[in-house]
Amino acid sequence: MCGIIAYVGHKDVQPLLLEGLKRLEYRGYDSAGICIGGEPGFFVRKAAGRISVLESLLDEERAAPHGRIGMAHTRWATHGAPTEINAHPHTDDKQLVAVVHNGIIENYVAIKQFLTDKGHKFVSQTDTEVLAMLIGHFYQGNLTRAVQAALHEVRGTYGLAAMGAEEPETLVVARRGSPLIIGVGKEEYVVASDAAAIVEHTTQVVYLNDNEMAVLAPGTFKTMTIDDIPVTKEVQEVEFSLQQIELGGYPHFMIKEIFEQPEAIANCLRGRLDKNEGRVVLGGLSQYSRDIVRARRIIIMGCGTAWHAGLVGEFLFEDLAKIPTEVEYASEFRYRNPIIEDGTIAIAISQSGETADTLAALREAKDRGALSLGIVNIVGSTIARETDAGIYLHVGPEIGVASTKAFCGQIVVEALLALTIARRKYMSQSVLEEFLRALDRIPNQMRLVLRQSDLIRQVASQYSHRDNWLFLGRGFNYPVALEGALKLKEISYIHAEGLPAAEMKHGPIALINPGMPAVFIATRGTQYEKLLGNIQEVKARGAKIIAVANEGDDHISHVADHVLTVPDTIEPLQPLLTVLPLQLLAYHAAVERGCNVDKPRNLAKSVTVE
Ligand code: F6R
Repeated sequence: MCGIIAYVGHKDVQPLLLEGLKRLEYRGYDSAGICIGGEPGFFVRKAAGRISVLESLLDEERAAPHGRIGMAHTRWATHGAPTEINAHPHTDDKQLVAVVHNGIIENYVAIKQFLTDKGHKFVSQTDTEVLAMLIGHFYQGNLTRAVQAALHEVRGTYGLAAMGAEEPETLVVARRGSPLIIGVGKEEYVVASDAAAIVEHTTQVVYLNDNEMAVLAPGTFKTMTIDDIPVTKEVQEVEFSLQQIELGGYPHFMIKEIFEQPEAIANCLRGRLDKNEGRVVLGGLSQYSRDIVRARRIIIMGCGTAWHAGLVGEFLFEDLAKIPTEVEYASEFRYRNPIIEDGTIAIAISQSGETADTLAALREAKDRGALSLGIVNIVGSTIARETDAGIYLHVGPEIGVASTKAFCGQIVVEALLALTIARRKYMSQSVLEEFLRALDRIPNQMRLVLRQSDLIRQVASQYSHRDNWLFLGRGFNYPVALEGALKLKEISYIHAEGLPAAEMKHGPIALINPGMPAVFIATRGTQYEKLLGNIQEVKARGAKIIAVANEGDDHISHVADHVLTVPDTIEPLQPLLTVLPLQLLAYHAAVERGCNVDKPRNLAKSVTVE
């Protein structure tokens, strides 16, 4: 979703900002713009489309200045089409202030009316121009005061950076509901909505909280609330390196991240499986371990892939820990007047830790008295900071828009939590140890599955022209079917339905026509025989069967047209292996169709608006 990069210091700002924008590209955007200051007045250029379009524009204009202060933005359209005019930065009509902004100003219509009545002239359809105009309206020679005055009037969310034409060394940044991180270098500051744009400059960062702002100038740095109360911020170390966010020889981030999974899961498990003592170690929860073990109900909240991981969690918490569990779409939960009783734990699952709906659902659950836990990848993200306690995924940065390694990390963390509770309640030590051994084997088993990438590419190319696919599974593999369908549709634009296999005959079976690919997750387990029956029902109607099955399953090769194999593991852990062939199927099908895998149309990596 929208990205901000801003800089003040001693370096030539234009190449630095363009490089920063490229690091934010993965978040998804449809236009970009840059503002360079340093002399009274500022230089603003914007372009619809890719950053390369903006870059060529700047190359053509040899007059583009090389200042030491500036800001840039990638916009993902919400208010107004993705055009040059609507791209950020926006200025007020007197060209006194320029603003880049992530988030949504909810009362922009009323403010726009107020400003129009005062004689201000607007050129775009955006809520951000309204914010820039309001700051300009309040400007009386002090940018910080003008930003504070404007922010007192707005409702909604923002991560913003502002520059003033008459204050050529000052950058003002503020945050409410949309992340903003300040990288602290030597006499320089790099501000971004995402640490990916900061780590090449510095790993020392300050995370702004909601309603906080900072005033930055070369070598000076002040933080305060938007009510102007000074706040002292701790400088923290970012967890990941630049190397981790580069392609490392892979053609796309998605395939890199798919292949990184054995290592990522090993990292996720590191220090958490105590094989000598036969126990799980989750240090982040120790303060609340009694409440967690006594929980009477668990509510899991998330969106998209994180919601699918939550569905696997539902099976894990009910099956292993014997705690009634519900999985909620965060976007629905927040508006549903939910019932939270004593002993309820709300678990927010989010790779980015910034998803607006998940954050709002978390706050709702907390307000109603739930103990809140986070299963989050990005250290220091808003959800991670707002939960009472949590478990980080530690799977490394996920840049590809389609979530892959985070899904497996989320399931591993849920399994560790479920096992911790289970052992304190009903599970014997020997069963726990069996699980721990099985988890320990997962990274190597993943490597075996990934070796089939070429075979999967051939299968994908055989069916990539088909516009409708089905993904079917039962039990623990039902969420995997949903995830396989989501992966395929988001990056290849093929329509795909994921369903519990037995639901087919209640309607969707009518969709089947000869040659339609139907992917069955058919590993051995409690519902294996029933699933074989479902395969026959679908095959009888002419579908082509692609089965994900266990190695050595001779029976399945007689019924399926293609078999992709996974090693045996304990049934609750199967999703960690069965999802891999589906990620690869989606990837290869999308590449075959010529789709931009890492930047699928209309999608954003981190959905920070409702
Ligand atoms: C799908 C995908 C999305 C995210 C969803 C939640 O591949 O990436 O469905 O899973 O937007 O994002 P996080 O986990 O960052 O809250």
